[in-house]
Amino acid sequence: MNILVVNGSPKKKGGASAFFSKVLSFMLFPQKVMSKTISVSRNYDNIFTDLKSVDTVIISVPLYVDGIPSHLIHFLQQMEQYCVNNKCKFMLYVISNSGFVGGYQNRAHLEQYKCWCERAGIRWGGGLGIGGGVMLHVIFYVTLLLGIIQFVIGILINIFSGEPAVSNALLLSFTRSMIIWLFFSSGMLFYEFILARAIKKQKIIKNKYTRAMVPSFIFLIFADIFMALEALFHGKIIFSLYKKIDYTKDMQ
Ligand SMILES: Cc1cc2nc3c(=O)[nH]c(=O)nc-3n(C[C@H](O)[C@H](O)[C@H](O)COP(=O)(O)O)c2cc1C
Repeated sequence: MNILVVNGSPKKKGGASAFFSKVLSFMLFPQKVMSKTISVSRNYDNIFTDLKSVDTVIISVPLYVDGIPSHLIHFLQQMEQYCVNNKCKFMLYVISNSGFVGGYQNRAHLEQYKCWCERAGIRWGGGLGIGGGVMLHVIFYVTLLLGIIQFVIGILINIFSGEPAVSNALLLSFTRSMIIWLFFSSGMLFYEFILARAIKKQKIIKNKYTRAMVPSFIFLIFADIFMALEALFHGKIIFSLYKKIDYTKDMQ
């Protein structure tokens, strides 16, 4: 079976959509999976050439303003034309991930791809809506990184104090970190597994919804802190926010 996974995020590197498509590709093993990225490019030839030969296409995409990101609308318009002209026969599955924690936020978004399938004459396989996409993505790297740092520091301390390098306590703390990650991500892992199983059997499934396994009030606190830090590091530095702007310049 030939499977094509398309990352629909405009981010060139990383991103939650890429993370979820990697998890799915891992679960699709031993099937052959090709991965492509749309980004904001307007040339999709490298993706379209594969559409005629694949049995399944999976689009992993972020939710933007409760719907399809605008750059992806352009892609879907072109793809619709291509599929109609070339009588494509693949089945489409979609993973939609949102910043907000509720997985159901993605419901209307997934419906849009189902409608697209009807227009393009493509079989709709089903979708997965993941809430708290950014958090699930960040938690994976943070837990992994902290786990590794803790492990390495522990080994160094053990060596200097003349004890066996890898002690039981060290293994236990690393296992604890992994269990915490598994707990937060259990919904996502479970439903990605269900999706992978459906894809392997070429089955149609009802849309599924899941989220980061954190109570919403705790999610809000961490999401606010994360967003504030993101704005500080990737946005304008805080003092420039208070700078006086001369609006008359724009009017001249
Ligand atoms: C322009 C824009 C609009 C967004 N709109 C929504 C939204 O309506 N609802 C929501 O839950 N998240 C929204 N988000 C958050 C993204 O869905 C979320 O950050 C997602 O995990 C990004 O995935 P990526 O890293 O693959 O790009 C929006 C983000 C951007 C940049």
